[in-house]
Amino acid sequence: MNLIREKRKLAPGVYEFWIENNHIVKYAQPGQFVVMRLHEKAERIPITIAGKKGDCFRAVVRAVGKSTYELCMVKEGDSIMDIAGPLGRPSEIDFYGNVMLVGGGVGIATLLPIAEALKAQNNRLYVVLGGRSKEYVIMLEEFSKLADQMIVTTDDGSFGIKGVVTDGMQMFFEREKIDIVWAVGPTIMMKFCSMKAKEHGVKIWVSLNPIMVDGTGMCGACRVTVDGKIKFACVDGPEFEGELVDWDELLKRLAQYRDEEERSLKLFME
Ligand code: FES
Repeated sequence: MNLIREKRKLAPGVYEFWIENNHIVKYAQPGQFVVMRLHEKAERIPITIAGKKGDCFRAVVRAVGKSTYELCMVKEGDSIMDIAGPLGRPSEIDFYGNVMLVGGGVGIATLLPIAEALKAQNNRLYVVLGGRSKEYVIMLEEFSKLADQMIVTTDDGSFGIKGVVTDGMQMFFEREKIDIVWAVGPTIMMKFCSMKAKEHGVKIWVSLNPIMVDGTGMCGACRVTVDGKIKFACVDGPEFEGELVDWDELLKRLAQYRDEEERSLKLFME
């Protein structure tokens, strides 16, 4: 149980793990996530489910803080102490027509099962993937098999179009009638994607990644304000309509423990 069967580097500091867990494989739906604890003293980390294969599910992790660094150091053959899930509400998969999917960073991995499920419903997929440079744009091959059209943007122009994902969104909005958008990536990216979708009067789903502790609606750590109401991302989300999210509050809450996180990572690396 929870054995790491395969580990692979996808990008600098980004790893894919195929983890044995029949329960997650049986019940997980697109858009859902798990909470992992590596060992007794480890922090609980929310990780999205980025695919299934046999009796394994895929987790894609970026080493950003102490806990994710520690997780990225586990090897094939190691085990994770506990995995809770699947958690959160699944994506609203249906036939919409022309669907735009926008992914940035490890959010691209979250988007993949959503893309597969939407494709299975015969939607046409207009995919925009973005990253700092070519090496940070993960899962290009998997998305190119699913996408009807795809635009890649990189900040430095090393691949695709030099620019950001909202530039790719604008290009698709000018070319096609888009019926709905999903955007998953860094919070600031999702904020701007929501503004872009609003500009074109199209509904957008975003997958929020606030600080989480229990992942079951008990601790309140993942509190977000959506449409003026308090929601808990772990049970009411993680997907919400981007236009209704209080982005400034979320960005402020995410920055709340930055100093402590930096200190903890520094101590871990020493
Ligand atoms: Fe505790 Fe959501 S993580 S309420």
